[in-house]
Amino acid sequence: MEKVRKAVIPAAGFGTRFLPFTKAVPKEMLPIVDTPTIEYIVREAMDSGIEEILIIINAEKECIRTHFGHNFVLEDFLLDKNKRAELAMVRDLPLKIKIEFTYQLEQLGLGDAVLCAEKFVQNEPFALLLGDDLYVSKSVPVTKQLIDAYEQTHSSILGTLEVLPEEVSRYGICNPVQPSSERLVQLKSVIEKPSIEQAPSRLAIGGRYVLTPAIFDLLKTQPKGAGGEIQLTDSILRLMESEKVYSLKIDGKRYDIGSKKGFLEATVDFALSRDDLKETMKEILHEKIKS
Ligand code: G1P
Repeated sequence: MEKVRKAVIPAAGFGTRFLPFTKAVPKEMLPIVDTPTIEYIVREAMDSGIEEILIIINAEKECIRTHFGHNFVLEDFLLDKNKRAELAMVRDLPLKIKIEFTYQLEQLGLGDAVLCAEKFVQNEPFALLLGDDLYVSKSVPVTKQLIDAYEQTHSSILGTLEVLPEEVSRYGICNPVQPSSERLVQLKSVIEKPSIEQAPSRLAIGGRYVLTPAIFDLLKTQPKGAGGEIQLTDSILRLMESEKVYSLKIDGKRYDIGSKKGFLEATVDFALSRDDLKETMKEILHEKIKS
C-alpha cells in the first residue's frame, strides 16, 4: 500500500463572501491574528507527515506563491538587524517543505480544481485540504487522522462533521451503509448540497479528504452538478461503484473561515490560545462585555 505523501490545496475561488477585501487580495490570505489562513492549512499538512504540497491558484493569486517563496531582501534585512524570531517566521517554511503551484484557468468548480492536480499526484493516494475549513485539534492533526484511517482501510476517506438540519444544503452529505456511532463508516452514497428533505444524514464533508488517484478519470467525464459546477462529490459517488469509500468523524474544532462568523471566532480563539496575546484579548473582551 502506498503512503500518503502528497497534499493538494485548492485556492482558486473568487471569495465573494469576503468582498470588498477579496477584490485585490485572495481570501486565503485573510490573516487569523498575524498569519494567512492558508499557512495554517499548509502547516496542518506538514504536521500530518505530508512531504509535497500542490496549491491550485489562478493568475490573480500570485501573492500566495510569493508568501511561500523566499524573500531574500527581507531575509538579509532581518539577519542584519539580528531579528532571529522574525527571520525564522519568513524563512523556515520554504526550507522545510516543497510547495508547487498550478493554475486553474476557469472557475468550473471544486471537481475541476482537483483535476488540475492530476500531474502532480500521479498514481498515489493524496490528501485534499480545503482552505475555508480551518481546524484546531488537541490530539492528532486532522489530515493525519484521515491518513491513519486510509492506512487501515486502503480506501478513500471523507472527513466529516455533524451539522444542523438547516445547514445540510451548504455541504456534501454522506449516506453510511448502515447507521452507526463509529467514527469510521463505509458509505453507500454522497450528495452535494441537498435540501433538508433529500439529505440522507447530517454527516457533512468537512473539507478534508484522502482520495485514491482513481478519482481523476471520473473527474474528466464529470457533468456539471449542484450550482452548475463540476462537483467533486459527484465523482466520489461514482468512485463508490468501483471502490469502497469511508467517512471519518473529525476530532477537532472547525472554523468556517469562508463565513464572517467563523473568521471572527477564529481570530478571537487563536489570540486567546497565544501566550503573547491571551491577556490582551481577555482585556478587550471584558471591556466590551462590561459596556
Ligand atoms: C465544498 C464541497 C462540499 C463540502 C464543503 C466543506 O463546498 O463541495 O462537499 O461539504 O466544501 O466546506 P463549498 O464550500 O466549496 O461550496
